[in-house]
Amino acid sequence: MTVMKGMKGLILAGGLGSRLRPFSHSMPKQLIPIANRPVLVHVIESLRDLGVTDIGVIVAPRSGEIEEALGDGAQFGVRLSYIPQAQPRGLAHCVMLARDFLGDDDFVMYLGDNMLTDGVRDIAEDFRTHRPAAQIVVHKVVDPSEFGVAEVDAEGRVLRLVEKPREPAGNLAVIGVYFFTAAVHAAVDAITPSARGELEITDALQWLVEHGADVRARTYEGFWRDTGRVEDVLECNSELLKGLQGAVHGEVDADSELIGAVVVEAGARIVRSRVVGPVIVGAGSVVEDCSIGPCTTIGPRCRLRSSEMEHTIVLEAASVTGVGTVRGSVIGRQATVTSAVAPGWHRLLVGDHASVEVAA
Ligand code: TTP
Repeated sequence: MTVMKGMKGLILAGGLGSRLRPFSHSMPKQLIPIANRPVLVHVIESLRDLGVTDIGVIVAPRSGEIEEALGDGAQFGVRLSYIPQAQPRGLAHCVMLARDFLGDDDFVMYLGDNMLTDGVRDIAEDFRTHRPAAQIVVHKVVDPSEFGVAEVDAEGRVLRLVEKPREPAGNLAVIGVYFFTAAVHAAVDAITPSARGELEITDALQWLVEHGADVRARTYEGFWRDTGRVEDVLECNSELLKGLQGAVHGEVDADSELIGAVVVEAGARIVRSRVVGPVIVGAGSVVEDCSIGPCTTIGPRCRLRSSEMEHTIVLEAASVTGVGTVRGSVIGRQATVTSAVAPGWHRLLVGDHASVEVAA
C-alpha cells in the first residue's frame, strides 16, 4: 500500500554534530552505524516505509562522505537530491533552502540523526487524511526543559510551542519528524533568527499557530532517540539489536561458542572465542581469543584479540588487543586499543575532544 503518494521527504543531515565529538570531527554524525548501518540508512528506510521515495537531503559542505555512502538512493529504492547548506543556520533555514526541490508539495521533514524505531506509519496516514497545515510528532519525556515543548488541546490541536522552557507546561517534547503542507513556506519566510542565531522550526510552527493555521500534534509511543550524543547512540544500538536474527555467513571455529542472536557477516572469522548475542561481527573482521557481547556491534575489517567487550560499538577497521572488559564504549574507525606495556601504565594518544576512562 502506498500511503504517501506524492509526498516528498526532506532529511536534514547537515549541522555541526558538536555533541558527538570526536567522531563528528572526521565523519558526519548521521553516518554513525547503529546495528552496523548508518543512522541515515535507517532514516531513509523509515521514509520509504511511508511510500516517500522522492527525498531531498540537506548536507553540510565537505560532507561528500554522505553522498558516497548513499549515492542516488537507488540501492534503497528511493531517489535522493542533495541540497548543500553552507552553514548550519537552523532547521527552518533548511526548509527555505529546499524550496525549489519541494515546490508546493506536502512533505515530511526528518532529522537525519533521529531514530523512531517503531515507525510513524499511523501518524503519516493521519496527516494525509486530515491535511492540517502542519503536524508535529511529540513524545512524552521525563525532562521536557531540554526540548521544544508543545501545549496541545484534547483534540490534538497545538496551542503553543516553547523552545527549552524553564517551566514546561506538560511533558510533550517535539521530536525529529514533521509533516508540512506548503503553508510552512510563508512561515519560514516570516520568522527572524533566534537568540542563538538560527531560524528555528519551532518559531515557524508558532507563527502558523498565531496566524490561525491548523497545527496538530500526534504522540509517538515507541522507542525514540536523537543520536546526537554517544550515550544515545549506544542505547539505540542495544535497542535495535534486540530484534536481531542470528546468521553465520563467515567462519566459526570448533573452539568457539555462539550464544543467542549472533550475526557473523561474510568473511568474518571467530576463533577460540565466546560470543553472547545480540552481537554483529562485521564483514572481514577477526575475533580471536575474545569474549564478546551482549549488545555489541563490530564493524567491517576489525581485529579483536584477547579482549572482552560488551555494550560497545567498534567502527570499521579498528583493532583491540589484550584489553580487559571494554564496556559502554565507541571505538572509532581505524583506532587501535592495546594493553599497557607494564601494569599500572597508561599510554594515551587521544585526539581532540575524545574521552577516555581508565582504572584508577
Ligand atoms: P541538531 O542535532 O540540533 O544540531 P547539530 O547537528 O548542529 O548538533 P550539535 O548540537 O551536537 O552541534 O540538528 C538536528 C539535525 O538537523 C541533525 O541531523 C543536523 C541537522 N541540521 C541541519 O541539517 N542544518 C542545520 O542548520 C541544523 C541546525 C541542523
